[in-house]
Amino acid sequence: MCRANVIYNRRLNDRDFHMALRLPKEFVDPRPGQFVMLRPAAPEGPLLSRPLSVHRFTRLHDHVVLGLLYRVVGRGTAMFSRWSSGTEALVLGPLGNGFRIDGKKQEHILIAGGMGVAPMGYLADCLRGRNLGGQRMIFCLGAKSQGELIGLERLETMGGRLHISTDDGTMGTCGTVAELLPGILGGREPEAVELYACGPPGMLKSLASSLPGDFSCQASLEARMACGVGACLGCAMTMRTDGKGVVRKSVCRDGPVFDLREICWDEIVIT
Ligand SMILES: Cc1cc2nc3c(=O)[nH]c(=O)nc-3n(C[C@H](O)[C@H](O)[C@H](O)COP(=O)(O)OP(=O)(O)OC[C@H]3O[C@@H](n4cnc5c(N)ncnc54)[C@H](O)[C@@H]3O)c2cc1C
Ligand code: FES
Repeated sequence: MCRANVIYNRRLNDRDFHMALRLPKEFVDPRPGQFVMLRPAAPEGPLLSRPLSVHRFTRLHDHVVLGLLYRVVGRGTAMFSRWSSGTEALVLGPLGNGFRIDGKKQEHILIAGGMGVAPMGYLADCLRGRNLGGQRMIFCLGAKSQGELIGLERLETMGGRLHISTDDGTMGTCGTVAELLPGILGGREPEAVELYACGPPGMLKSLASSLPGDFSCQASLEARMACGVGACLGCAMTMRTDGKGVVRKSVCRDGPVFDLREICWDEIVIT
């Protein structure tokens, strides 16, 4: 756990924020798809840490800057939204397994629904850092409506091809981001592309059912988390094994990134 200070905490729309935290230089470089557990340093009430994905990361001479993108959904994130420059926080991380990058793949398809764009920003930075960016990246970004499409400006500057969908048709294709996929994958060889996805469970589930059988996809899963390190078993979920059996895995330590085909949907609440 290390101490951090808020550099800025900007409102992006009604309920989404972009926060930058200053952390000591000892904080390890995260892998894309990893997350941190964040909580206030001052005791403002009995608040457990909340998991947030690494959205940006910059290493400077004597400190590092961690960028987080978050949506206010409850008590913890509402508290984060009230923090201002200088507020002290506690950060545990980087945690979890993260996305695996295979440099031999010709194209990298990043699929994000809603706040799922948070880890995709950093994944795109890492792909660019390994010369796998530009036209080798394809972004599929979905949201309920235009006002909830966040991170768009940044993705537009990354040189990748961008496909947008909104549930209400206010921008891009009308429908879900999962519906974009068959059209994008048509004519592409499964071994030439890597797919990465993050978004609400309903989106990941429809992605799993619309993904052609020979394509695989690395999916970042959300779960309620208390410890973030595999100690409380609060985030355990049933996953399929290669041998068609099942096994319990913790989303925080064994994930949050899993092969989309591993996920058993029976016990996941789709909202
Ligand atoms: C690995 C990981 C990475 C995440 N990255 C981000 C991110 O980058 N940006 C972001 O905005 N959110 C992210 N989340 C979700 C975020 O952690 C929750 O929205 C947050 O913990 C809610 O806390 P709260 O106190 O505001 O809400 P609560 O008061 O605890 O809950 C409010 C509502 O949100 C639901 N909820 C709470 N926690 C979760 C959760 N973990 N997953 C799904 N629904 C939840 C509850 O069921 C309830 O309906 C991530 C979650 C995980 C597991
Ligand atoms: S949050 Fe405690 S085991 Fe995953």
